[in-house]
Amino acid sequence: MVHSEERTFVAVKPDGVKRGLTGEIIRRFESKGLKVIALKLLNVTQEMAEQHYAEHVGKPFYPRLIRYIQSGPVVAMVLEGYNAVQAARHLMGKTNPNEAEVGTIRSDFAMVMEYNVVHGSDSVESAKREIDIYFKPEELCENYKNMSELVVEDLDVE
Ligand code: RTP
Ligand code: MG
Repeated sequence: MVHSEERTFVAVKPDGVKRGLTGEIIRRFESKGLKVIALKLLNVTQEMAEQHYAEHVGKPFYPRLIRYIQSGPVVAMVLEGYNAVQAARHLMGKTNPNEAEVGTIRSDFAMVMEYNVVHGSDSVESAKREIDIYFKPEELCENYKNMSELVVEDLDVE
């Protein structure tokens, strides 16, 4: 399978934010090589929660999931990089933290499925849909990739 430069939507869920894990979770994605091209702390509205989790309507855990995602602020981000969707999911680990491999975010920081600290899109199509729920197009930093070149040239140093 050929993978190319992709974007994915990732969120530190309210339990992750409340427990002060935001920095550690972002660090893992950055260390892997994914670039944060959009980032914000926000309270998810009922409408956003219903849009985000539309695929789960009717499942037994749906009402709890909708309450959980609104139980405190989330840190939403767009990550960009080679094979970003799969790469982010790999770092997160399986949905159930007890089945997630040691070293993954969910294994290392969570105990139960209902509070699994992080969300990541499951496909490029889901990523596009979810990015649209959380971000306006102008909130994505399209020029991020060239940042390292800009650092020196843009500074007026001798
Ligand atoms: P996510 O969407 O949050 O990245 O998680 P996922 O793809 O690994 O799992 P998904 O099936 O999309 O489920 C979404 C979230 O719902 C909660 N959940 N609880 N009690 C349960 O059986 C159950 N199943 C799912 C989890 O918070 C899961 O991340
Ligand atoms: Mg999912």
